[in-house]
Amino acid sequence: MQSLAKCWAKEGLRVSFVPTMGALHAGHLSLIGRARKLCGAQGIVVVSLFVNPTQFNDLRDFQKYPNPVKDDLRMCADAGVDYVFIPTVAEMYGEKDSTQVTENRLSLPMEGASRPGHFSAVLTIVSKLFNLVRPDIAVFGEKDFQQATLIQQMVRDLNYPIRIVVAPTLREVDGLAMSSRNTHLHGSLRTQARSLWHCIKKARQTVHQSSGGIPTEGLRGLKHRLKLFLEQQKDARVDYIEFFDEVTLLPVRKAQRGDRIALAVFIGKTRLIDNARL
Ligand code: PAF
Repeated sequence: MQSLAKCWAKEGLRVSFVPTMGALHAGHLSLIGRARKLCGAQGIVVVSLFVNPTQFNDLRDFQKYPNPVKDDLRMCADAGVDYVFIPTVAEMYGEKDSTQVTENRLSLPMEGASRPGHFSAVLTIVSKLFNLVRPDIAVFGEKDFQQATLIQQMVRDLNYPIRIVVAPTLREVDGLAMSSRNTHLHGSLRTQARSLWHCIKKARQTVHQSSGGIPTEGLRGLKHRLKLFLEQQKDARVDYIEFFDEVTLLPVRKAQRGDRIALAVFIGKTRLIDNARL
């Protein structure tokens, strides 16, 4: 992969990269479309398919993560992807690896607090992929807003010559954010999963209707009401609901337009995350 990337650089070709864990859906296709636009018809679009074992906190979640490589390859071909990089775990990790990339501020709240070690694992694999693919541009989804923010920070801190582009979340007709994990949602679980988007819309409406934002006390009450709303669904269990500043990712004291809401909710055994600007 790296030798190929060096050849592209010698030829002066622009490389756009979309790192994924496979199980591609329309959300990924929109990232690929964006990647193509950014590098142009003459450029090279690379997609990686790698279910990174180190970033799963739960072994069962890793084991049941969908991995339909044939379908993914077909989707990539149809979407005009030039190269698909599918390394094995043994190729990506040596037995004696002892280096990790850790970020110490933006990685602490929300997903970082709920999933210890997750972001170091993500930054390490993304950093390795960047060193192999050597892209000019890399495209990530806004659905993983904290991840995308951390990657932007890593690229700045470690001087990667890569432009990070964050593309909007794609939603199903009923508002559910597209995710490979949605394939685990069968029957009523799928219907219950709509509640995440309804919750975001409720929060947004409440903030917009308030004059000058919702201060600490009100925010505590709002979070409580949103939790109750979500947990009206019989299989829903809220992990967190947070109102936060888009730049620092820290919880806000007063929620107002331009801040963000993020939530992580188990629907049955499937943990879903979503976020949006208020
Ligand atoms: O967002 C994902 O699919 C993964 O976290 C990533 C960025 C491909 C790293 O494994």
